[in-house]
Amino acid sequence: MNFLSLIEAKRDGHSLDPLQLKESISAYTTGRVPDYQMAAFLMAVYFQGLNAAETGALMRAMRDSGDVLRFPADPRPLVDKHSTGGIGDKVSLPLAPLLACLGFRVPMISGRGLGITGGTLDKLDSIPGFQSLPSTQRIVEIVQTVGCVICGQTARMVPADKALYALRDATATVPSIPLIVASILSKKLAESLEALVLTVKFGVAAFMPTLERAHELAQALVALANESGVKTRALLTDMHIPLGRSAGNWLEVRESVECLEGRGPKDLRELVLACAAHLLVQTGKAKTLDAALQQAADCLASGKPRQKWNELLAAQGADLPAFDRKLAREHTAPVVVELKAPASGYVSRCDARIIGEVVRDLGGGRFTKESSINYDVGVDEIAKPAEPIKAGGLLARIHAVDVAQAEAAGARLKTAFEISVQPPVANPLIAGTI
Ligand code: URA
Repeated sequence: MNFLSLIEAKRDGHSLDPLQLKESISAYTTGRVPDYQMAAFLMAVYFQGLNAAETGALMRAMRDSGDVLRFPADPRPLVDKHSTGGIGDKVSLPLAPLLACLGFRVPMISGRGLGITGGTLDKLDSIPGFQSLPSTQRIVEIVQTVGCVICGQTARMVPADKALYALRDATATVPSIPLIVASILSKKLAESLEALVLTVKFGVAAFMPTLERAHELAQALVALANESGVKTRALLTDMHIPLGRSAGNWLEVRESVECLEGRGPKDLRELVLACAAHLLVQTGKAKTLDAALQQAADCLASGKPRQKWNELLAAQGADLPAFDRKLAREHTAPVVVELKAPASGYVSRCDARIIGEVVRDLGGGRFTKESSINYDVGVDEIAKPAEPIKAGGLLARIHAVDVAQAEAAGARLKTAFEISVQPPVANPLIAGTI
């Protein structure tokens, strides 16, 4: 295999032979193609793109670079959800136990946060004792017994994506639709799923700033996943504003538990139920989306998903009494300060990007993959667009490690909000389905 000729071909805008692509990924993963050549190849792809056949070949080569999860035959369909990432997006936490109670098996392989985008594993790591990295064998055992697992990919799963993603991160080649599609689907397809629901975000705090770009990404994801035998739909969801009222690892776990208890923010509940409902329809467990939404809402109201959550935590090593004690504390960060509204009116802007930056700067996110994070800091009680507010009313609360950090966060957080005399037009959370 001559990797140089592959770089040249892509640089000059030619289509690549799928077999050569497959061999190149295998050669890179086993150290036979150096980083500098792969970096040049990625940049060529960034500028020239990949057609559908090339993207599929790349995705399959990445998926097959390591272990693919294998499950025993079972009437419960294997399903999962993937989000392209955002601020306050904690949907996976209440969704996994809800899906398990609806009769699915959910091998939810998740990631950590980087930059302003939160990561499901970081949220779960704020739970005392929780083990987010079980072995492949244990992942299968937990899925078979509990019905769901939420964990990180083992070193043996999709190693090509791990290496390529790190290289893309260091070479400014992350925002390429075919590379994103191959990366996301290589991991999801290593879970041997029957159905998948995607939430593809658009807005100031999303990978894709506009609805049009999110639509393009969603279409590419849905087309390749379906062609690969996984029944897939994508929901295009607004990420100009955070999801829910909390951003920060432990604060988001609290909000997820509220959702499982039938409390918590409306938008979070709406998206959790929508994801569950689409999977019910995709797998033939419900005939219409309305019937599926009712089925999911009834299941949530039954309290069973809340019990399932405890089962999931116990199976993944969590110390449940310590978790309950942590939940019972009003807050776990040393300093909590309130950000007050400067005037009366309606919240007309609540900028998810600024809120994400504030949480990261408080220590709740990572600047680099090696950064350690503080699980207890963040922002909660966030006032959302179109809500009426009085001068001196609460716009948000800041959870910080000390007063100086809280004050710095407050000065920045203020700029995330605007208040208007007239209520703004509220945008729907789900702008479309593909
Ligand atoms: N998430 C992924 O897993 N891969 C990408 O390339 C982008 C987002």
